[in-house]
Amino acid sequence: MTAKYNPIKRLNYVLIASICVGEALIMYVLPSFGPISSLASIVIDVALLTLITIPVIQLLVVKPMKKYMHDLEFAEETITARENQMLGVLNALAEAKDNETGSHIIRTQKYVALLANRLKIMGEFPDILTEDHIEKLVKAAPLHDIGKVGIPDHILTKQGRLTDEERELMSHHPLIGESILVVSQSEEIEMELISIAIKVAGAHHEKWDGTGYPRRLKGEVIPIEARIMTVADVYDALVSSRPYKKGWPTEKACNEIISNSGTAFDPMVVKAFIAERENFELVAQQY
Ligand SMILES: [Fe+2]
Ligand SMILES: [Fe+2]
Repeated sequence: MTAKYNPIKRLNYVLIASICVGEALIMYVLPSFGPISSLASIVIDVALLTLITIPVIQLLVVKPMKKYMHDLEFAEETITARENQMLGVLNALAEAKDNETGSHIIRTQKYVALLANRLKIMGEFPDILTEDHIEKLVKAAPLHDIGKVGIPDHILTKQGRLTDEERELMSHHPLIGESILVVSQSEEIEMELISIAIKVAGAHHEKWDGTGYPRRLKGEVIPIEARIMTVADVYDALVSSRPYKKGWPTEKACNEIISNSGTAFDPMVVKAFIAERENFELVAQQY
């Protein structure tokens, strides 16, 4: 939403204008009080000026400002409603074709919340990981694999290891996901939630050392939202059973995450993971 006017600028103009008009009127009115002392003249001057200025400010600034704040609030509510609506549609789309179970989505969402909140407690990324941003990141997390809608069914549902060629096709899902989300981003309203989802979907297979895909991004160039998603997603993949493998014991999975700190994963996110290790195990047991 674009502001129709700047209320502070308007307040300045109104103040200057009403003081000038007020002073001119007072200079005209004061002599009619007859000869008065300079102190009384100042008191009358201030009283008259106040009487003139307050209603003018009330009418030209306070009232429009109240309306402006109301419109702003309404616009924010509309954006949130649109974001949630969009999220519902995209979630349904992602779930319709995902080969993962619904509980993978729930678990990874909870892991993301644990990691992001821990990083916040640790005082890391204070400019990014605000309460509101974390809330949006958690909402966006289920969309990380939305690009799988563009992958052929026979690959998605294959009960066994993928061939090199199939894996190559599968590796396009981050870019497909990113492009789906870019299209759903509104042109006139920047939806923060969708922007976060774009980062997560596009970069959740990047690795800290630059050996990931699709862009081989390295280190802090990978958005922090995606670095968090990666740890959550890999941990869940490790502890979950697949048709072709048994889920790893949590101890082994934790060691795998820790030993890949600085190669596959952001060391800071791994630090948060270590602090949240027990909660990860609880989530894995519960869902
Ligand atoms: Fe993925
Ligand atoms: Fe996943």
